[in-house]
Amino acid sequence: MWVTGEVIERKDWNDKLFSLKIKADVEPYIAGQFIKLSQIRDDKRIARAYSIVNPPGNDFVEVLAVAVEEGQLSPDLQSLNPGDKIEVTAKATGFMTLDEIPHGELQGQHLWLLATGTAVGPFIAMLLTDEPWQRFNKVVLVYGVRLAADLAYLDTIKQLSLKYPEQFIFVPIVTREDFAGALTCRIPEAITSGLLEQKVGIALSEEDSQVMICGNPGMISDAQNALLELGLTKNLRRTPGQITVEKYW
Ligand SMILES: Cc1cc2nc3c(=O)[nH]c(=O)nc-3n(C[C@H](O)[C@H](O)[C@H](O)COP(=O)(O)OP(=O)(O)OC[C@H]3O[C@@H](n4cnc5c(N)ncnc54)[C@H](O)[C@@H]3O)c2cc1C
Ligand SMILES: NC(=O)c1ccc[n+]([C@@H]2O[C@H](COP(=O)([O-])OP(=O)(O)OC[C@H]3O[C@@H](n4cnc5c(N)ncnc54)[C@H](OP(=O)(O)O)[C@@H]3O)[C@@H](O)[C@H]2O)c1
Repeated sequence: MWVTGEVIERKDWNDKLFSLKIKADVEPYIAGQFIKLSQIRDDKRIARAYSIVNPPGNDFVEVLAVAVEEGQLSPDLQSLNPGDKIEVTAKATGFMTLDEIPHGELQGQHLWLLATGTAVGPFIAMLLTDEPWQRFNKVVLVYGVRLAADLAYLDTIKQLSLKYPEQFIFVPIVTREDFAGALTCRIPEAITSGLLEQKVGIALSEEDSQVMICGNPGMISDAQNALLELGLTKNLRRTPGQITVEKYW
């Protein structure tokens, strides 16, 4: 079911990357889930999924999006301004949530969140809830982008570092230029080479790690394979494991 939302705020991170706050009657959701945004063009509905960046409990949803060259919907989303209307699904969905991560003995001590590009969004939503901090000793956010200017929500991430100095480890990865403090290789390579574990100071292991991976499908396949090599397994409802993924395309 579609409801009409109203854009109440827009933030441009760079000339392609932007966030929209949309006031809409969206049912209660779980951090990590996504809604769809939609426009009708020539009597045809164009609908695309967008992860919610803000934690549950507000009367708006915030999304982080990139305007894909020659994309059908995203360039139009980029042209929206406060006051403009956009259709939103009333119900959010998606299984890349902390509910889906095994509890108890199977959980392990460390939560690893691996994102490329806009896929940092659902992880920001999770990190702004209490759950990861109550369930895990260490929480690692790995955020890979092409250029430093593509790193969104750095203020929020900094606030999290200040709030959870012992628990939170942030690893930016910038692949197409040097950026102080960031790794320069892609996420799968950082896993395979051991560079990521070295940088974070903890090991990726079947016993101690839960890994959520989101974003570019090529990155997800390669990162998953790298983790399988380390002995981790896919997390499925019937057979709990350590790797939970959501592909954006
Ligand atoms: C579960 C889920 C959640 C998603 N959440 C987000 C989100 O929070 N923010 C967001 O920007 N997109 C998100 N997407 C992707 C989004 O649904 C659209 O595919 C995207 O906005 C492009 O739509 P389009 O109509 O402009 O392009 P299309 O004409 O549909 O072109 C699609 C192509 O665009 C590229 N592409 C799509 N999404 C991205 C992306 N995020 N980053 C880089 N390249 C991309 C790929 O090459 C893809 O083949 C999500 C997708 C899924 C399945
Ligand atoms: N100036 C522009 O026109 C411009 C600028 C930015 C974005 N865009 C639009 O945005 C889209 C791309 O968005 P994006 O940069 O956010 O996402 P992206 O292409 O998925 O890149 C994000 C990060 O993921 C890495 N990556 C890509 N493929 C990978 C793989 N197979 N395995 C591991 N890592 C991988 C990239 O590394 P690499 O750097 O090594 O690829 C980069 O660090 C484009 O389709 C384009 O439409 C346009």
